[in-house]
Amino acid sequence: MWIYLNDRFVTKQEAVVSVFDHGFLYGDGVYETIRSYGSRIFMLDQHLARLHRSANAIGLTIPIPDRQWPTLLHEAMDRNDVGHERADAYIRITISRGAGDIGLDPALCQTPTVVIMTKPLHPPAPDQYRDGVSLIVANTRRNLPSALSPQIKATNFLNNILAKREAIAAKVFDCVLLNWESHLTECTVSNIFFVVAGTLCTPSLDCGLLDGITRDILLNLAREAKIPVAEGRFGVESLAQAEECFLTNTTMEVMPVTTIDKQRIGTGKPGPITRQLHQLFIVNRAQFLEP
Ligand code: PDD
Repeated sequence: MWIYLNDRFVTKQEAVVSVFDHGFLYGDGVYETIRSYGSRIFMLDQHLARLHRSANAIGLTIPIPDRQWPTLLHEAMDRNDVGHERADAYIRITISRGAGDIGLDPALCQTPTVVIMTKPLHPPAPDQYRDGVSLIVANTRRNLPSALSPQIKATNFLNNILAKREAIAAKVFDCVLLNWESHLTECTVSNIFFVVAGTLCTPSLDCGLLDGITRDILLNLAREAKIPVAEGRFGVESLAQAEECFLTNTTMEVMPVTTIDKQRIGTGKPGPITRQLHQLFIVNRAQFLEP
């Protein structure tokens, strides 16, 4: 496995970061998870734009010019023999504050650490798409946006990890987190949608959630398909009324949810709007790939 570290490709054994890196000491950094379909990277400009928004929010300058990313990411895929017709690529860019003396001041760190990892993308198992997955509602609340905005895709992921620990303990696929006002937000690595009386509902960004790139595509596809859409503030009782539910993210696309807190959603099978939207996603995704 080849990993890009700062200015060159190194082997997995050589890919080590200083214990003084503020990414390690304080979770001071940002990241993006990207994917390819075959050799073509999906929604690259949108991922780079979000990386910039996250970096700007923490006052971190990305030391790589935007025009260089495609070349670097493709070299990372080629070196690891991924990103071709036999293996879609999972691509992770991590940029941390860099190594510096102990202390919170970012100025202690001269140079950000840049890491690019690529590996084969392993999508969820077909039976999960066929049968749907189970969720619980987490006790852990999503970060208060005015304390740490969930729109910063930060390497400090403890909020999500604490929630994921609850899901693991409950032996379910994942959990949905509520915000400070008990409104739904998102799951640990995905956005949540549900259907009530034929309307596709999803928590609005002001509830405190990541502005998922897949979420945005799904909202546009639903509007084009004339499915009524509601972005808003929803309590957990909305899930009890839901006929369908699904999750979205870069690696899963659209994952049906068929139980929440042991309660069946709708018929207990992936619903028709979920299937229609996933199909529309598959049919339309080529337009979001690199040329
Ligand atoms: N996660 N919400 C959270 C908290 C996420 O971490 C992610 C992405 C999403 C969905 O965003 P997108 O559609 O842009 O992938 C929502 C990625 C997959 C990760 O952390 O690896």
